[in-house]
Amino acid sequence: MSTSPDRYLDQAVDHALRGPDRDRNPRVGCVLVDTAGTVVGRGHHGGAGTPHAEVVALTAAGPRARGTTAYVTLEPCNHHGRTGPCAAALHEAGVARVVYAVPDPTEHATGGAAWLAAQGVPVEQHDHAQAQALVAAWARAAVLGRPHVTWKIASTLDGRVAAADGSSRWITSPEARHDAHALRSCVDAIIVGTGTALADDPALTARTPDGSTLPRQPLRVVVGHRDWPGGSRLSEGQEPALHLRTHDPFEVLDALALLGVHSVLLEGGPTLAGAFWAVGCIDELLVYLAPALLGTGRSAVPDLGITTVADTARLELADVDRVGPDLRLRLLPQPVTDHPPAAPAAALATEPTPPAPSLQED
Ligand SMILES: NC(=O)c1ccc[n+]([C@@H]2O[C@H](COP(=O)([O-])OP(=O)(O)OC[C@H]3O[C@@H](n4cnc5c(N)ncnc54)[C@H](OP(=O)(O)O)[C@@H]3O)[C@@H](O)[C@H]2O)c1
Repeated sequence: MSTSPDRYLDQAVDHALRGPDRDRNPRVGCVLVDTAGTVVGRGHHGGAGTPHAEVVALTAAGPRARGTTAYVTLEPCNHHGRTGPCAAALHEAGVARVVYAVPDPTEHATGGAAWLAAQGVPVEQHDHAQAQALVAAWARAAVLGRPHVTWKIASTLDGRVAAADGSSRWITSPEARHDAHALRSCVDAIIVGTGTALADDPALTARTPDGSTLPRQPLRVVVGHRDWPGGSRLSEGQEPALHLRTHDPFEVLDALALLGVHSVLLEGGPTLAGAFWAVGCIDELLVYLAPALLGTGRSAVPDLGITTVADTARLELADVDRVGPDLRLRLLPQPVTDHPPAAPAAALATEPTPPAPSLQED
């Protein structure tokens, strides 16, 4: 019988997927396997405020937990939350060995593996792609302390996102729009300002090229004080759009984090995007660049207060892809540093570009 951790971590991932898709906590699964290779307990985390996956599996196994190996998708926590540290629960139940896939990135919960090892319990970290994918968005948000924000722009070559009459449909090709719809289904929320809601009456749903909705839909969010008219597409659907009457990007992100949102697609327009940019709440840009010119109309950003080229806000070009007749650029804001590191010119020229997180992980 194969004892590869993958076999049991696969099962743990299957259980984790039973947890809620949008929650403040990550989806976690655990299976307890005895020395004969029999699974004697399974568990998943059902969301914030409910027992962790390890505790559910231990409860299911009862006394049979003693001497088992626990396979967990995320490092057992080491903090006293509502349910107590899972590392201690595994130890007290007599679990003989722990295999986990993803180290806990949070300051308050990390250390479970080290604590178990200090008690003499063999602990092993085993890479597992699906387990990693399961928590990628949550982990990114946990490190940032807020949801990860991707700003999506559909722009002409001269940086226009709408014509002088306010129309913006369509600047980019159907291929680019389908690509963006696939992206929508990978994030937890889409945000627009009331300006876009009123100008475009967008549905903000994730759809296939034939117009049917994709299985996974993001939370739709409109930011600003004005109401939108009854009967607009934002009021339709199973879950009407959430209206946040504020101009403060941090208030928006805090409210969404409480709703279990870990990743956000900021879809405009220039006013709202400029506000997020100004406070450093843009983590990534996706620009669909059409080979087209408008000459006048709304620029992708409002006045950023930059008056000289020396102060240009520069971005790192992480990826370029052709999507139909358009280009898709993935860009990362340059970290703002008061004192840029003094590196020799030759070293700068040969420095490899660090790998950027993939949106598909969501
Ligand atoms: N091509 C593209 O990628 C793209 C994407 C989106 C939109 N657009 C186009 O952009 C145009 C709309 O632009 P827009 O800038 O008006 O849209 P917007 O940024 O979506 O909405 C602006 C409105 O949001 C509210 N708001 C929220 N936070 C704010 C803040 N921090 N500061 C100021 N206001 C804030 C204000 O309305 P309240 O008074 O209600 O508070 C403001 O008027 C349309 O023509 C649309 O078609 C293009």
